[in-house]
Amino acid sequence: MSTPDAIAADEAEASNKFSFMAAVSKTPKKIQFADDMQEFSKFPTKTGRRSLSRSISQSSTDSYSSVASYTDSSDDEMSPRDKQQTTTKGSSDFCVKNIKQAEFGRREIEIAEQEMTALISLRKRAQGEKPLAGAKIVGCTHITAQTGVLIETLCALGAQCRWSACNIYSTQNEVAAALAETGVAVFAWKGESEDDFWWCIDRSVNGDSWQPNMILDDGGDLTHWVYKKYPNVYKKIRGIVEESVTGVHRLYQLSKAGKLCVPAMNVNDSVTKQKFDNLYCCRESILDGLKRSTDVMFGGKQVVVCGYGEVGKGCCAALKALGAVVHVTEIDPICALQACMEGFRVVKLNEVIRQVDVVITCTGNKNVVMREHLDRMKNGCIVCNMGHSNTEIDVASLRTPELTWERIRSQVDHVIWPDGKRVVLLAEGRLLNLSCSTIPTFVLSITATTEVS
Ligand SMILES: NC(=O)c1ccc[n+]([C@@H]2O[C@H](COP(=O)([O-])OP(=O)(O)OC[C@H]3O[C@@H](n4cnc5c(N)ncnc54)[C@H](O)[C@@H]3O)[C@@H](O)[C@H]2O)c1
Repeated sequence: MSTPDAIAADEAEASNKFSFMAAVSKTPKKIQFADDMQEFSKFPTKTGRRSLSRSISQSSTDSYSSVASYTDSSDDEMSPRDKQQTTTKGSSDFCVKNIKQAEFGRREIEIAEQEMTALISLRKRAQGEKPLAGAKIVGCTHITAQTGVLIETLCALGAQCRWSACNIYSTQNEVAAALAETGVAVFAWKGESEDDFWWCIDRSVNGDSWQPNMILDDGGDLTHWVYKKYPNVYKKIRGIVEESVTGVHRLYQLSKAGKLCVPAMNVNDSVTKQKFDNLYCCRESILDGLKRSTDVMFGGKQVVVCGYGEVGKGCCAALKALGAVVHVTEIDPICALQACMEGFRVVKLNEVIRQVDVVITCTGNKNVVMREHLDRMKNGCIVCNMGHSNTEIDVASLRTPELTWERIRSQVDHVIWPDGKRVVLLAEGRLLNLSCSTIPTFVLSITATTEVS
C-alpha cells in the first residue's frame, strides 16, 4: 500500500516528467482516508434505532431484499432485533433475519466449498490437531457463503467464533442463518440500520461468559469498537487480523498514536490478497453488480473509474472488455501511467463529468465524488462505489430538500433534481459488488487461506 506521503511526493516529482500529467492534479494532494474523521462514539440504544432512517420519497420502499440472496422476503419488515428465534438445538444467542432459511444457506455454503479448495484442504489437514483451540475469535466481515466457509474452518480448527457484518447490505441472510444453526453466534442481516450495525458488533463482542482474545476485521470498525468501548478486553487481545486497506490505514493511525498494543496482521498487503482478491474479485463482479441493478448495456458507454489501484484495474479491465470507453482519474503518477499504458484516458473528473454515463469510485479515499460533480452529471448517469467505505461519494450532500429520492429497485435509487434530471445511485454509495451481486468464490479461498495460515 502506498503511503499518503509517498504518493504526494511521487506525484510532485512525476508532474515534471509526463505529459499526461496535465490530466492529473498538479498540486500534491494528501490522501484523506475515508475513516480519518470517523467517529466511534455512536453507541447503540434500544430506543430510537429507527432515527437514522433515510429521507427518501414515499414511493420508495425500504425492504432491501437481496439481489444475491434468493430467499429473502421483502414482506417481512419486522426487525430481527424484535424477533424471538431459536435454533433447532434451542440456542437463541444470535440475531439473523430468519433462522428458517438455514437449510438453504447450508446449500449455499456447500456450493462455495466446491470452489474453495485451498481452504478446505487446509481444514482437512489441520482439523485433527485443532491448532486454534483456545482462540476466541470475534469477527466482522461480509457475511457471504465464502466467509461462511472461512468461519466454519476456524471452528473446525478449534476456535470459538462470534461474528457480525462489516457492511449493512452485504449479508446473505440464509448464510447467516446456516451459521447460527450450527452454533456460531452471528449478529447480521441485510439492510441493517446504522444503529443495528453497531448493536450487532456490540453483541458479537459481548457474549455471556465469553471474552474474545482475537479479532478478525474487515474495515476496522470492530477493532475500534473494542478499543473504544472495551479497553480491558482490547488490552487482552492476542492478535488482530485486518483484511482491508481501509482497516489497515486505521491500524497505522492507532500505531502512530502509540495505542496499538496488540500484534496486528495486515492481510491486505499480502500478495495473495492484493494481487488476486482486490484485482480479480472486482474484475469478475463489477459487471454483475451493475447489470443486476441497472440492466445497462456497456458497449459504447462512457465510464469514468476513479482510482487505478488493484480494484480500479480490475474494474477497468472488465468494462474495457465489454466495449465501454473508459476514463481513469488518479492521484498517484505511477498508477496513472499504468492506466495510460493500458490505453485508458487519464483525466480529471471535472473534465469528463458532464459526458460520462457511469461513475465508479475505487480509491479507498473519501469525498472523491462531491455534490458539485453530482450537480453536473447528465440525466441518467449511474453512480456507484467499489471501495470499502461509503464516503467516496458524498451521498450525504444529496439529502437536501430540493432533491427527491425514489427507490426504483432494491439498492437502486433515483435522485431527482428540480429540473427533472435523474442520477442513478447504487447501494447508496456502499460497495457495489458485495451489495448488488455475489462474488467469485475461488479468489476468496486464496485470501481466506492466507488469513487462516
Ligand atoms: N469491492 C471489493 O470487492 C473490494 C475488494 C478489495 C478492496 N476493496 C476496497 O477498494 C478500495 C481500493 O482498494 P485497492 O486495493 O484498489 O487500493 P489501492 O491503494 O491499490 O488503490 C487505490 C488507488 O486510488 C488512488 N486514489 C486515492 N485517492 C484518489 C482520488 N481522490 N482520486 C483518484 N484516485 C485516487 C490511489 O492513488 C490508488 O492508486 C479500498 O477501500 C479497499 O478496501 C474493495
